[in-house]
Amino acid sequence: MTKHYLMCRPDHFAVEYAINPWMDPQAGADREVAIRQWEGLRSAYEELGHRVSLIDPVAGLPDMVFAANGALVVGGRVYGARFAHPERAAEGPAYLKWFTDNGYDRVHEAAFTNEGEGDFLTLDHLVLAGTGFRTDITAHGEAQEFLGRPVVTLRLVDPRFYHLDTALFPLDGRNVAYFPGAFSPGSQEVLRHLFPDAVIADEEDAAVLGLNAVSDGTHVVINAEAAGLQLELKRRGFEPIPVDLSELRKAGGGPKCCTLEIRD
Ligand code: ARG
Repeated sequence: MTKHYLMCRPDHFAVEYAINPWMDPQAGADREVAIRQWEGLRSAYEELGHRVSLIDPVAGLPDMVFAANGALVVGGRVYGARFAHPERAAEGPAYLKWFTDNGYDRVHEAAFTNEGEGDFLTLDHLVLAGTGFRTDITAHGEAQEFLGRPVVTLRLVDPRFYHLDTALFPLDGRNVAYFPGAFSPGSQEVLRHLFPDAVIADEEDAAVLGLNAVSDGTHVVINAEAAGLQLELKRRGFEPIPVDLSELRKAGGGPKCCTLEIRD
């Protein structure tokens, strides 16, 4: 299925503050390498036939490359982000402006803290929503009311997996892959109940952000280091498309973090 993605070139990318355990401002990150790797991700999407739109990067917002956090778009309705950390606060309005500038008129400015598709993952009949580190549980109800889709709360418990999209990804509209250890016992039960046939990833694959992947239902764009998970995906009939985003991982991001899906 052809997808439409919004991406932001990492022209101002840096690791200069630490808001998750992956970030070490002392060690920093190489912007040129990050740009080259990001271009590889963008070409991978284009080679798969997907449409990529671009938002202008803003100086002083080094994490703006992580477009997934900018909003949640379902059925043409744009639920805006409201960031947990002041360092990223200005990204919310910047992404909302892109949508209004591009003709999206069903836009909701969120009253509650939420980090867009970082914590909201959309399937055919429901939206999975993370909480525990960034997105406030009150935003789950707000998103459900605005989008008119059932939103299922999942509690994250491991600080390495601070956004839902670092621990789980939809394989298609009906099934997911996830790392159980990132979730509370109750949420693990919810996941087992909803997705008895899920792909279960191990800690090794999760620890290279292998679950921060983007599936179009056939191809799965995934961090190259997640070897075990790629094997299992192949066994299930998916085609892994490995990419190297190791420089962006120094900020705690992977392929999915760099990608905001626009569902018209
Ligand atoms: N440094 C960013 C942060 O901590 C990384 C965001 C990654 N995005 C994501 N969708 N998981 O906010």
